[in-house]
Amino acid sequence: TDLAHIRNFSIVAHIDHGKSTLADRLIQETNTVSARDMKEQLLDAMDIERERGITIKANTVRIEYTADNGEHYVLNLIDTPGHVDFAYEVSRSMRAVEGSLLVVDSTQGVEAQTLANVYQAIDADHEIVPVLNKIDLPASDCDRVAEQIEDVIGIDASDAIRVSAKSGIGIHEVLEAIVHRLPAPTGDANAPLKAMLVDSWYDPYLGVVVLVRIMDGKLRKGDQIKMMQTGARYGVDRIGVFRPVMQNVDELGPGEIGFITASIKQVRDTRVGDTITHEKKGADKPLPGFKPSVPVVFCGLFPVDSAEFEDLRDAIEKLALNDASFSYEMETSAALGFGFRCGFLGLLHLEVIRDRIEREYDIDLITTAPSVIYHIYMKDGSFVELHNPADMPDPSKIDHIEEPRIKATILVPDEFLGDVLKLCQDRRGIQQDLTYAGSRAMVVYDLPLNEVVFDFYDRLKSVTKGYASFDYQLTGYRADNLVKMQILVNDEPVDALSTMVHRDRAEMRGRAMCEKLKDLIPRHMFKIPIQAAIGGKVIARETLAALRKDVTAKCYGGDVTRKKKLLEKQKAGKKKMRQFGKVDIPQEAFISALKMD
Ligand code: GTP
Repeated sequence: TDLAHIRNFSIVAHIDHGKSTLADRLIQETNTVSARDMKEQLLDAMDIERERGITIKANTVRIEYTADNGEHYVLNLIDTPGHVDFAYEVSRSMRAVEGSLLVVDSTQGVEAQTLANVYQAIDADHEIVPVLNKIDLPASDCDRVAEQIEDVIGIDASDAIRVSAKSGIGIHEVLEAIVHRLPAPTGDANAPLKAMLVDSWYDPYLGVVVLVRIMDGKLRKGDQIKMMQTGARYGVDRIGVFRPVMQNVDELGPGEIGFITASIKQVRDTRVGDTITHEKKGADKPLPGFKPSVPVVFCGLFPVDSAEFEDLRDAIEKLALNDASFSYEMETSAALGFGFRCGFLGLLHLEVIRDRIEREYDIDLITTAPSVIYHIYMKDGSFVELHNPADMPDPSKIDHIEEPRIKATILVPDEFLGDVLKLCQDRRGIQQDLTYAGSRAMVVYDLPLNEVVFDFYDRLKSVTKGYASFDYQLTGYRADNLVKMQILVNDEPVDALSTMVHRDRAEMRGRAMCEKLKDLIPRHMFKIPIQAAIGGKVIARETLAALRKDVTAKCYGGDVTRKKKLLEKQKAGKKKMRQFGKVDIPQEAFISALKMD
């Protein structure tokens, strides 16, 4: 296809504003897929995405469209992940296209992820077509939302397209706007090959599949290629496009988006943002802006049943093959035995991986408190990157500790603003900006990532009844008065419950954790002290009273089936418990104890 007849675009939207529904409708309207094969939310392939309604991996589809002017166009849609954890992937896929449809739910208005994503599109110099969705709903207010788009984002929304992705209103107008309002790609077919590696994933039949955008030159089946960042070399086995099922083609030229397979062993061997060129007569400079994605949130994953350690290793290795941004190393914990210290891009990423291990590999897990990477500067001038509070060096040898900070943007209806400010303040936030757009406030806070990784988002949702939206980016490291707090159960430190806290908040956190644990740990035949301590000094304490003998006595004698049932229940419960010295701690305690109410 000649460049003038190609349009490449992505759809940016806040979650639930209708991105996937609109994509489905565009595919349907252009008869890309027969009605029989059309199923809801075609682009969200993985089960877990379907259930959670979130798009995790970028997907793509090539649509052929004959416009009202009679010309035939190829439209490539790259579907980008909408969640902050995957911001880097979003920014790369934005660089692979020239324009964006900005979908805003006309009953809701602009939200935090709308902003985060549209700014990425603006950074990538996109032409942006605003699309107001859900006009079929009575609460739709297009004029207000158009005005809000102009006020908050600062782009012209006077010719925003009004659609209902659900009922199909305005879809034709969207297709015409893609053709007439978005620019065609540029590129030189005779220049050395430069293709951007936009995404890659593991396909059980084909092995690793790589999504590419050709910038310059041509890529053909059988070509010998080289990845410019990793230096790896491969022969192209297969080349094609997504419609959205894979269809082989002979070559891809400038402006085109498609896939290749090349006997690449594992997804880890590919780097999103890398430049692919020919091994011979290749490009001399890679595309700008490549950066490897690095994990920012760490936690331990341990099998509840220590006999499942090898299964867990197997599961983690398999998942890691398919996810270069997920890191892991073996860890041993005095309390939990053998497991893995894993690094994730963010909390959602953590949850997705943990869910997949539990669901797809059927392993019960104990997840330890998520933590961030601390920078520890020692008095002797050396430097430690701390991934696990359990590995904290001797405090007397530490000069100072720095923690990662974020810039958080929160959009919230006025009536909840007070609660949001309080929440941010409680989490050691520093307010940086507060502006209004209609009846919504936009607040910007500088916050420690450590105060956000755990339950900040849940708390935000609950204090605002779900009306707040939130987005963040890492800004850098800053020193603060941070200490390691240990939890002792029956005088034994439980390493998996160690956390880094700010000194001023340690008592409060320690007390809250001890109280929670007191409720979560079942009574034993003896009295159990539960303590929080900093460097050997106890700062909070609770005591779990001993079980009275006559309570268990009730279980003896009497109805045999009842006794059996009780025993079974006990066994099932035991499975979820871990022994610490003489004390059984249920697995939910590891997460619940850290939640702040
Ligand atoms: P993710 O891709 O999962 O991030 O979300 P999304 O933006 O793609 O939202 P999705 O397409 O899944 O739509 C969210 C919900 O809104 C679904 O229940 C849709 O059926 C509904 N929806 C989408 N478009 C419309 C519309 O035009 N009108 C109405 N009434 N509902 C719509």
